[in-house]
Amino acid sequence: MEKLDFTASVLPCSARPLIFDENKCIGCNRCAAVCQVDILIPNPVKGRPPVVLYPGECYYCGSCVMECPSKGALRLEHPLMNQAKFVPLKESRRTLREEAPPDYETVERITREAFWNKHEPGCCEHYLVHQMRAHKDFVRELDTVALDNETIAGNIMYTRAKIAGDDGRDYEVLCFGPLTVLPGYQNKGIGRMLVEYTKEKAAAMGFRAILICGDPCYYSRLGFVPAENFGIGNDQDMYADALQALELYDGALCGCAGRFVESEVFDMDMSGFEAYDSHFPQKDKKTGLPSQKRFLEVAGSRRPR
Ligand SMILES: CC(C)(COP(=O)(O)OP(=O)(O)OC[C@H]1O[C@@H](n2cnc3c(N)ncnc32)[C@H](O)[C@@H]1OP(=O)(O)O)[C@@H](O)C(=O)NCCC(=O)NCCS
Ligand code: SF4
Ligand code: SF4
Repeated sequence: MEKLDFTASVLPCSARPLIFDENKCIGCNRCAAVCQVDILIPNPVKGRPPVVLYPGECYYCGSCVMECPSKGALRLEHPLMNQAKFVPLKESRRTLREEAPPDYETVERITREAFWNKHEPGCCEHYLVHQMRAHKDFVRELDTVALDNETIAGNIMYTRAKIAGDDGRDYEVLCFGPLTVLPGYQNKGIGRMLVEYTKEKAAAMGFRAILICGDPCYYSRLGFVPAENFGIGNDQDMYADALQALELYDGALCGCAGRFVESEVFDMDMSGFEAYDSHFPQKDKKTGLPSQKRFLEVAGSRRPR
């Protein structure tokens, strides 16, 4: 078959929908690959941004910007007429501070909202929060709330725990939980902010390490590693995928192999739970949710130490 050669050249147009920052663009041309209306064609010169062939046909879907792996390399320049229609979003102001008594009710409510049906039908983490503050192992200085403008959107609470060392010594460590971000505010970095802020504070207070039970997919992003790496198992002397550790200084857990023993506050007295929970709005309990299956999968992944 005869091979036809086509030459494409940029059509003159007053619209200039895309602005490339050539210092940031790595020339991967992924933006060209996702454009549904073929406005962009890959640049024949390797490492350069694609050529904007039909600028006037861009409908400003933003796919190219979302696909771009290099932040700031590409931005959309809406036509003046459209720019006038957009009202800038009110910038949200995030703050962190210690929890105070007037926050207690709200924190328990957001905890219930975040954990409801997450790990099991319903939840009892809000009752744990309610009991934890009065417990001897509770670390008040690290009990932190995150505010999005004036709304309490997240909370983290810490208790003292220990590693019962194989050498017969006890090593004091911290454990956090519940860690809560109100649905609607999740996946916006609030959980990360709470962990990072309190981890620095805990280090400054002289603590050795933080050990937690949770989903490794989430906590590995925050610097946690399997506690198994340090020879630490759970209280039943099992290595558990859910058990993860974060050293607060280099080598903090070296020589601390043993069993992790969390505060007794987690052995909850549930006798008053129903009466306590009845003060909250009625919510449906659900079974078989993906998050519940994931919880069982992570919790069940353990082997003898
Ligand atoms: C889990 C929880 C605290 C995370 O807080 P968040 O503010 O939503 O999370 P962040 O926005 O800080 O997420 C931090 C990172 O983890 C990722 N992430 C969030 N949830 C995740 C999950 N369940 N699995 C894997 N990764 C996850 C985010 O994409 C983000 O990654 P990035 O920084 O690379 O973009 C929050 O979703 C929550 O309260 N969930 C319900 C209660 C709960 O399960 N608490 C933890 C009990 S162990
Ligand atoms: S905004 Fe949409 S239509 Fe315009 S160039 Fe990007 S991907 Fe193509
Ligand atoms: S996706 Fe981003 S980095 Fe890649 S070519 Fe397009 S603008 Fe450049």
